Amino acid sequence: MATNDVLAVHGGTPLQGRIRVRGAKNLVSKAMVAALLGDAPSRLFDVPRIRDVEVVRGLLELHGVRVSDGGEDGELVFDPANVERASTDEINVHAGSSRIPILFCGPLLHRLGHAFIPDLGGCHIGPRPIDFHLQALREFGAVVEKTPEGLHLTAPNGLRGTKFELPYPSVGATEQVLLTAVMAEGVTELRNAAVEPEIVDLICILQKMGAIITVHTDRVIEIQGVPRLSGYTHRPIPDRIEAASWAAAALATRGDVEVLGAEQGDMMTFLNVFRSVGGAYEITDPRAPRAGHPGQEGGIRFWHPGGELKATALETDVHPGFMTDWQQPLVVALTQARGLSIVHETVYEQRLGYTEALNKMGATIQVYRDCLGGTPCRFGRRNFNHSAVIAGPSKLHAADLVIPDLRAGFSHLIAALAAEGTSRVYGVDLINRGYEDFEAKLAALGAHVERP
Ligand code: EPU
Repeated sequence: MATNDVLAVHGGTPLQGRIRVRGAKNLVSKAMVAALLGDAPSRLFDVPRIRDVEVVRGLLELHGVRVSDGGEDGELVFDPANVERASTDEINVHAGSSRIPILFCGPLLHRLGHAFIPDLGGCHIGPRPIDFHLQALREFGAVVEKTPEGLHLTAPNGLRGTKFELPYPSVGATEQVLLTAVMAEGVTELRNAAVEPEIVDLICILQKMGAIITVHTDRVIEIQGVPRLSGYTHRPIPDRIEAASWAAAALATRGDVEVLGAEQGDMMTFLNVFRSVGGAYEITDPRAPRAGHPGQEGGIRFWHPGGELKATALETDVHPGFMTDWQQPLVVALTQARGLSIVHETVYEQRLGYTEALNKMGATIQVYRDCLGGTPCRFGRRNFNHSAVIAGPSKLHAADLVIPDLRAGFSHLIAALAAEGTSRVYGVDLINRGYEDFEAKLAALGAHVERP
């Protein structure tokens, strides 16, 4: 961690104002990989300036894709005319920096017949294996060789469509299958697929490129392989994780924040929980301009309506459930709710470690190995602290905090903003992995923060 990688947060001021979210981190990075499959340039709008985008851009450029800025702020153009092999040493510069490189497998096998994937990075929120990815790739006919430097993949007989059922509806493994099946020979049927809005948006992109993909009921996706794909022009769905993070910050600080660009449809489950704990929101829909605000960009305004927040029970789940990435920011607001709130984390086995820091600040959160308040999940008998009981309301006080991962990091920031006194938050640069210009946004919302 660099010595200046710290933020002094003077808490106790409600966040107030308006900020804007751009394309979803967890779609944009995959859309960039999809551009590799085309035989013509692709254009992507609303790309946020975040670390994950830089990593994927770097990897694309190493493989001969020309990436340039388009005419609009946040527009990127990808020209895959000269895709070529990159050296393992150069690729390894990106080792440990993101999880997206694993999604290069299918596109690189189609374009070059070989792929080298460095060690993956991403947040430490559980073991995060890639067994589903590798199993699926082998079903398509890929040969995977694990070496100390990374994974080498080849497809000596090409890639052929297959029938595959995921043991769990993994987002990444579903994307892996999509990005591989679109140009594999024949038909692929994927069962128990993830159907997150970011996946549907990736399917839209692939369809624009010429793919034939059908989403059936009950998590079944059918892909008819095609021999060639062209480029795409696409404006991605907005970042619903960032939007919910700012919503939670508004609630925890008793503030009022309008998140321009946020979409109601992708956030319905979050909005229901937000309302049931006592938060207020208004959809500022551009299709129904408000009096006095003609033609204004829409979004969602989130605020604390006064009085006390109410405790709730929630369980994280795959879509359309409550997203695991919404959990950490919201728990900070739940420390301010009267009564006992229960959170059952069913997507990642180690995503509650950050609650220790909240307890240090005065919260009362107890974590349990049992599946609390919901149906038993995969982690029930495996000794993981994956349920939490939050007793509130608690007065939070300032503390020195070290950010462990991206979403937990944002929750530390929210806690520091809600607490009395000055906190020092170390490792804040990690937040740049997924939140564009978060310091400028904090300033726009009236937060008192500074790099000491
Ligand atoms: N899993 C396996 N084997 C696999 C793949 C996944 O056991 O081969 C397990 C994971 O360990 C986890 C569960 O399946 O317990 C779900 O993982 P999934 O594959 O769905 O997650 P991911 O694709 O690695 C993406 C997002 C995460 C988000 C999850 C769930 C990206 C880059 N990351 O991860 O976002 O939490 O889906 O929605 O899209 C974040 O943005 O901070 C973040 C962690």
